[in-house]
Amino acid sequence: MISLDLIQETADFLAERFNPKNPVGIVLGTGLGELASEISDATTIPYSDIPNFPQSTVEGHDGKLIYGRLNGVEVIAMKGRFHFYEGYTMDQVVFPIRVMHYLNVKSLVLSNASGGMNPEFKVGDIMVISDQINLFPTNPLIGPNNNELGPRFVDMSEPYDHDYIKLIHDCAENLELKLHQGVYAGVSGPCFETPAEYKHLRTIGADVVGMSTVPENIAAKHMGMRVAALSVVTDLGVEGVVETVSHEEVQLAARNAEPKLAAIVKAFLSKMLTT
Ligand code: HPA
Repeated sequence: MISLDLIQETADFLAERFNPKNPVGIVLGTGLGELASEISDATTIPYSDIPNFPQSTVEGHDGKLIYGRLNGVEVIAMKGRFHFYEGYTMDQVVFPIRVMHYLNVKSLVLSNASGGMNPEFKVGDIMVISDQINLFPTNPLIGPNNNELGPRFVDMSEPYDHDYIKLIHDCAENLELKLHQGVYAGVSGPCFETPAEYKHLRTIGADVVGMSTVPENIAAKHMGMRVAALSVVTDLGVEGVVETVSHEEVQLAARNAEPKLAAIVKAFLSKMLTT
């Protein structure tokens, strides 16, 4: 069972350095970390210096936690996340989200790179996630429930906050940026999908697929957080046009779309606290 003492110890360590009031939590996904450089009055701590944080073993995943202000809004941002495919347990994958809860984070903004199955989608498009399908072989809430974190059986009728989704659409419209809305299927990876798997995912109702976000969303909902999420389509799994895909291509496509994502997130942040 997840140890509340460990979460508390990590939260105490960070609270001393950040002194947070009502921060918004942000997770910056693959190729989407540039937004972190726009955080002002920043206090940055590498994950390797944070007690009890999982230690990244994967090259190029040098994670950092950044506290400061983005567009005037108090934020705690994760630059880099922990993926299930790296071999972390689900408790490790969602550990930072639980620590954020102890740091008084009530609203969470997730971002990720994904493969698009919806035939309307193009590489570089952005989608606000309205719902998700958990296809990981497990769930971060399996095991004895910790009632201090949340209930045994979690309502998931609104995994992504409807008011936030509407606000994100308003922001994209004001910025004249195209924005899709749809369902994210979360899979373990690390393989990308076969053509038959992309077809299967489309058939069961998913618009995009990726290897993160779902466990974080589940842990956040367990603790009563409001969640918003944006996905950048970095490759296509559309029937007939499934192309080869590499991690480098995913990173590059995400980096190219990052300014659009950053503009939407910043506009959203300044409006969300009043919603
Ligand atoms: N599949 C799974 N995860 C991904 C993909 C994909 O096509 N693209 C980026 N992350």
